[in-house]
Amino acid sequence: RQMEKAGHRHFMAKEIHEQPQTLAQVIDAYTEGDRIVPPVAYDWAATDRVQMVACGTAHIACIVAKYWFESLARLPVDVDIASEYRYREGPVGTDNTALFVSQSGETADTLAALRYARGKARAIVSVVNVAESSIARESDVALPILAGVEVGVASTKAFVNQLAVLLALAIRAGVDRGLVDAAREAELVAGLRALPGLVSTALGIEDRCEALAHELAEASDILFLGRGPMYPLALEGALKLKEISYIHAEGYAAGELKHGPIALVDQSMPIIVFAPKDGLFDKAVSNMQEVMAREGKVLLVTDARGAETASDGVWQVLSMPAVAPVFTPILYAVPAQLLAYHVAVAKGTDVDQPRNLAKSVTVE
Ligand code: G6P
Repeated sequence: RQMEKAGHRHFMAKEIHEQPQTLAQVIDAYTEGDRIVPPVAYDWAATDRVQMVACGTAHIACIVAKYWFESLARLPVDVDIASEYRYREGPVGTDNTALFVSQSGETADTLAALRYARGKARAIVSVVNVAESSIARESDVALPILAGVEVGVASTKAFVNQLAVLLALAIRAGVDRGLVDAAREAELVAGLRALPGLVSTALGIEDRCEALAHELAEASDILFLGRGPMYPLALEGALKLKEISYIHAEGYAAGELKHGPIALVDQSMPIIVFAPKDGLFDKAVSNMQEVMAREGKVLLVTDARGAETASDGVWQVLSMPAVAPVFTPILYAVPAQLLAYHVAVAKGTDVDQPRNLAKSVTVE
């Protein structure tokens, strides 16, 4: 077993560190020269709406994808939790694309949701890791994420590869719909190809995460905040932390803070803010200042330019490589994972087999 962990203490650590390779692998499979070419073709010009359905971390990948599909392809996206979607009897138009994301391809609720959409939607598209799974088999178009076997119950490399595939599809949809021209496509492909190297650089924050983890491990509640696509990253940071460290955590859209969670803020509550220096940075910083005014202890995760402008009064800054805003969700998965991992290690929990959780939930 120790051998299989390639010298790491846990499968989760091994899988986090594999990400530069697994990400490069999937980007390679979805690109040809300057173009996005998914391994199975699908014409996004002929669809009018995308219904995305999934559970857990895969559901969070869908929320990120909504930002990409809407901005790059001007395609409306609805995102649903499979256990809700399957019973809600929501309308499915004949020009809608129903898209299911699942690492295992066997999650019972996601499979039932797929069966609900079958025969109603224009097509059933799935984004899966296990190519010979039920969800892949029952789809019209099954797109692999090529992450390799993931053992840790808390999903890491599969999340990053789900994001990479969903971004590639959103770019492709933008091309199919005449919104992304060849020059922009080439620029995006070049950006994608640079990502594995940047993920590798981002993994360099590990020592800092480990050092901070001891203090974070003392907290009973931790709040994660972000805006735009950093909002779902805040959800993912909170989910990972809950799953493996058993600390109560919440992810919130930073702008929604004043409508509830700000009531919880005091000096005992760490607040982790994901805020790359993008178009929403100033807004995120002003939300961060609202919590600091209430003595909240802020850990700001940003890039060098963000740190320069906004580190006054924050408890700690984690410095990430700078990258174009479209790519930040993939890069910021790394601090979400490393913080959760090291807090769990500091608490001495069973990182790869957290209590009450299963890798694949095949019963309802
Ligand atoms: C379980 C796992 C999660 C996963 C979710 C959905 O809760 O512990 O890591 O995100 O199921 O699984 P799927 O295989 O459909 O992606």
